[in-house]
Amino acid sequence: MPVSTWVEVDLDRFAANLHAVRSLLRPEQEILLVIKADAYGHGAVEIAEAAEREGVAQLGVATLHEGIQLRRAGCRLPIVVLSPLLPSEIDEAVAHELAPTVPDLDFARALSLAALKSGRPQRCHVEIDTGMGRTGVRDDEAEPFLLSLLELPGLRLASLFTHFPDADAEDLEFSREQVLRLRALLDRLGARGIRAPRVHAANSAGTLNLPEARLDWARVGLIAYGHRPPNARVEIPLRPVMAFKSRIVQLRDLPAGASISYGRSFVTRRRSRIAVVAVGYGHGYSWLLSSRGHMLVGGARVPIVGRVTMDLTMVDVTDVPGPGIGDEVVLFGEQGDEVLSLEEVARGSETLPYEVMCTIGKRVARIYVRGGRPVKITSLVGESAEWVQQAAQHFRLRAQAVAAARRG
Ligand SMILES: Cc1ncc(COP(=O)(O)O)c(C=O)c1O
Repeated sequence: MPVSTWVEVDLDRFAANLHAVRSLLRPEQEILLVIKADAYGHGAVEIAEAAEREGVAQLGVATLHEGIQLRRAGCRLPIVVLSPLLPSEIDEAVAHELAPTVPDLDFARALSLAALKSGRPQRCHVEIDTGMGRTGVRDDEAEPFLLSLLELPGLRLASLFTHFPDADAEDLEFSREQVLRLRALLDRLGARGIRAPRVHAANSAGTLNLPEARLDWARVGLIAYGHRPPNARVEIPLRPVMAFKSRIVQLRDLPAGASISYGRSFVTRRRSRIAVVAVGYGHGYSWLLSSRGHMLVGGARVPIVGRVTMDLTMVDVTDVPGPGIGDEVVLFGEQGDEVLSLEEVARGSETLPYEVMCTIGKRVARIYVRGGRPVKITSLVGESAEWVQQAAQHFRLRAQAVAAARRG
């Protein structure tokens, strides 16, 4: 297959993760799947299709264009835009039936006018800031805000929500206090005869750690993609949906004393077999992994030697038997019985698993896998059914090689 660097997205694991999340919810509680940032790098269109098949109720994006992309791809699920839009983005949001989160009354008035112009009621959401300190309306200012908003013609309040800054902390005191503040606001609104159709709070950590925060929707990203937040109190079976892979494009035998890559920060101490791997920071593979991170080659962990460059990274494969050009290299994921976790790569990159996933760039192809077989490939140059066939052959050979290695 003419693809050197790719992400594998396992749609069966994604479905199983959603199932595991659902096992925590009561039948009337639903999932709002957060698919902003191209579904955390997995591919928003394909993940939205899979989510719809799996009965997800709502999708959450962060930007106008993310919402429009899904609508153009034929997505019919309700879509909430979680981050504030600019007033100049309102007309497009209305035209594409995206439900904004209303940040202030000026925006609400402009949205109301746009709704009246469109002739259709416009759904909108309001974030209540109970302690995240980022966006929304403070809970102690929310009553007059909501009363004014509800008077505006053409708007339908679809939900009220809050967000946790540290539901993955060891101490959940602050998050519990946030839930109480939200409930107190709901009580005050109730006393005035105002009831939000839906209320939601729990991100992944909140869903696992705070049953009282699951409310109407679990608003999750990370756990649907198969990763546990730190300090998770509940065990549910989650498996990473994404694996990041590349291939060897050159093999070189270098003498002891040879410097490798920019800055000449690594010098071989022995005669070394060096594999050049077709990934660099231009693919979203962090420069901080230079001479620090690892990859999997031939089922073994090998060290990165020298600096990660824009397009290529070198690993020492001296101790790996018989590596060849085109051999698969795992940047995170599984190879045979070895696992190199996203979390380890994130630590080496001095960042969060979230950022590692979201920053894998557009030059990296996405291979969607169902039933252990590739079903779709997207790339910078479009989609190709022929590549899917070729990838299927690659997957077969890979599975045979793993089986042979296990037999010894
Ligand atoms: C408002 C909001 N809700 C929910 C989420 C999902 O968070 P997680 O991926 O931790 O479940 C995010 C992600 O950043 C968010 O910004």
